[in-house]
Amino acid sequence: MAKLAVLGHGVVGSGTVELFLKNKDKINKRAGIDLELGYVLDIRDFPGLPYSDKFTKDINDILNDDEVTVVAEVMGGVHPAFEFVLSCLNKGKSVCTSNKELVAKKGAELLKAAKEHNCNFMFEASTGGAIPIIRPIHRCLAANDITAYAGILNGTTNFILTKMITEKMSFEDALKMAQELGYAERNPAADVEGADACRKICILSSLIFGKHVYPDWVHCEGITKLTLEDVAYAKSWGGAVKLIGSVKRTEDGKILPMVAPRFVCGGCQLSNIDDVFNGIMVFGDGFDQVMFYGRGAGKLPTASAVLGDVIECAKHNITILSQMWEDSEDNSFISDYKEDVVSMYVRVNGVSKSEIAKLFGDCEYITREEQPESELAFITPALPEKDIDEKLSSFGDMVLGRIRLLEL
Ligand code: HSE
Repeated sequence: MAKLAVLGHGVVGSGTVELFLKNKDKINKRAGIDLELGYVLDIRDFPGLPYSDKFTKDINDILNDDEVTVVAEVMGGVHPAFEFVLSCLNKGKSVCTSNKELVAKKGAELLKAAKEHNCNFMFEASTGGAIPIIRPIHRCLAANDITAYAGILNGTTNFILTKMITEKMSFEDALKMAQELGYAERNPAADVEGADACRKICILSSLIFGKHVYPDWVHCEGITKLTLEDVAYAKSWGGAVKLIGSVKRTEDGKILPMVAPRFVCGGCQLSNIDDVFNGIMVFGDGFDQVMFYGRGAGKLPTASAVLGDVIECAKHNITILSQMWEDSEDNSFISDYKEDVVSMYVRVNGVSKSEIAKLFGDCEYITREEQPESELAFITPALPEKDIDEKLSSFGDMVLGRIRLLEL
């Protein structure tokens, strides 16, 4: 018999215990293992639960129990999660986490510790909620050179955007609802300002390109500056505005990871992904492109991904080398996003079409209902972003909005 310890009894932690206990017999039978719930670590008390006797407030109970072979870290945040996870790995206990901040900031160090102690640090639940993405990338797609991916990686912001567009709900009400449904981060600024999607893009980038990509190195914009006018123009253009995390190889051999709202055309599957759902498109030389889709946040969807890793560890507690990456000394392999060639949606006030044509030549114009006479919205030709910025700077405050197009 082996024991599972769960660190944290919040939304994902309680979901992990609930799903494990519900399906334990089936899980053990199917996987040919004999796993029991050993401990739940939390500083709070949870009286009256059927597994109340499993709670502890002391990590040493877990560290000193040799029967604990697998630990699910679902407490979130870097401290004390990092110290707890490192201690578990140093004892040869595999750890499975949903904690994207921990993986994005400390992944290289924790993977190294796992390798040194011949166990695993697994993080399927850190990216895309229930969607299997980490394992498919390093296993099923392992024969390919992966060149790029782009996706909706944050359920909360996608939920907010959907509610604002389809139900005309206010940003504040939509965010409150996402919090009540257990989608948002403890500090929802991480969702709406893009940090959560940025952590996920760092994890995917590190996994694919083999070097740790730290969040500070990634250009990141959230959805807080989006306006209903921009959303209306996107709709009348035939697409949608989505918060997109992306990374691609650039011609100079570097990579360009980025998080920003994008105009996504109606023909792209990502434009139709709504609510809390995430979608990730991956591009590679052999398979061309694949798309992953599913619930990107929430108690049981995330628990499902955590437990997938737990079962994998309980079955094979040998370090899986294909899901590792090395630490990086500097960010010289990250390309400057200002050099990237993009087309941009631009909304201006008090500028004429001839002034726009002088800067950008012929542009596609978009209209919307209730468009003021003095307002114009257009799509620039594809140019390096720094050139677009320079041209637009001559319009000064007359530029009301600018959003990059997603071009795949
Ligand atoms: N707050 C995150 C989201 C949770 O909304 O996507 C899942 O990582």
